[in-house]
Amino acid sequence: MIGSNLLRVASIATIASLAFGTITANAQSLIINEEELMITQAPAAAHLENLDEVFSGWIYRTKETQSLQLDDFDNPGMIFVDQALDEWAKVDGSAGKSCAACHTGGPAEFAGLRTVLPRWDDEAGAIQSMEDYINECRTERMQADAWKWSGTSMTAMTALISLESRGMPVNVVIDGPASDAWEQGKDIYYTRVGQLDMSCANCHENNYDTMIRADHLSQGQTNGFPVYRLKNAKLNSTHARFKGCMKNIRATPYKEGSDEFRALELYVASRGNGLSVEGASVRN
Ligand code: HEC
Ligand code: HEC
Repeated sequence: MIGSNLLRVASIATIASLAFGTITANAQSLIINEEELMITQAPAAAHLENLDEVFSGWIYRTKETQSLQLDDFDNPGMIFVDQALDEWAKVDGSAGKSCAACHTGGPAEFAGLRTVLPRWDDEAGAIQSMEDYINECRTERMQADAWKWSGTSMTAMTALISLESRGMPVNVVIDGPASDAWEQGKDIYYTRVGQLDMSCANCHENNYDTMIRADHLSQGQTNGFPVYRLKNAKLNSTHARFKGCMKNIRATPYKEGSDEFRALELYVASRGNGLSVEGASVRN
């Protein structure tokens, strides 16, 4: 699959054939800190009708960007993870609690959690993202203010928690009570919107591994989130990325933390079932 697409890309322009070199050099080997091998390429989940294989967005980045993710000392997202560790221990809110006060096992308590989120939650009667769980603890258990969905504290905390699942394959549940939201997410993914009249699939399913302006299109997977972007020099949430892509096609984006984006997050996550959690990853 990669091979045939690459031939197509290579014939477009010289810049694309440079990208060709990058992929063949690095496609197989995202090994972090010389010891943690990430699954960046996996057989597509059975529900994916139009793809045989799925690929981490890391594969499509330039060699320079890729290399920033090979070592945690080079990964600019890790500064925020350190900040989250401070936040973890900090008392906040009128209940006088820190995260550490209750989650006594430390962030390691959440090993594996990132692989199954977002998920249906019986108690909430809705699909819940990691941000929802964190804010539930803040508002109901700490009596503290909710964090902004894509604010610095929140993206840092989701990075800290995601890191506990690094390397584990994404494995979100799409059936049972999650199925309605999953179908809704799928609808959103395939619906053309905006002045450019495009769907997510137009770029990330039909045209991945081609150049769009100066950008090498990926499958738009979410296994790397939260993502440190060189473009804005901070960690970015999945919903912020969805919003950005919708704005790029001149569509009115849904709100971060909306049911629509939770549904889309579930559907897009399910397209990446089998790929390693990489958060915090590095992209341009
Ligand atoms: C007063 C105690 C308390 C405090 C403080 C607290 N939590 Fe929780 N947290 C809980 C309880 C209880 C649950 C639900 C039971 C469970 O799954 O552990 C929970 C659940 C969670 C979950 C979902 C876990 C899962 O497996 O579903 C996350 C994530 C989480 N907390 C993160 C945090 C973070 C981050 C902070 C600090 C900002 C925090 N919590 C503060 C008690 C607390
Ligand atoms: C006009 C083409 C286009 C459309 C339509 C589009 N995107 Fe993107 N998207 C991009 C580009 C370009 C990037 C940055 C390069 C890359 O990773 O593909 C990107 C990146 C992403 C990423 C980050 C991938 C990573 O590894 O960090 C996600 C997730 C994503 N898009 C999801 C979506 C979703 C969901 C939709 C539909 C709401 C959508 N995109 C619609 C062009 C598009």
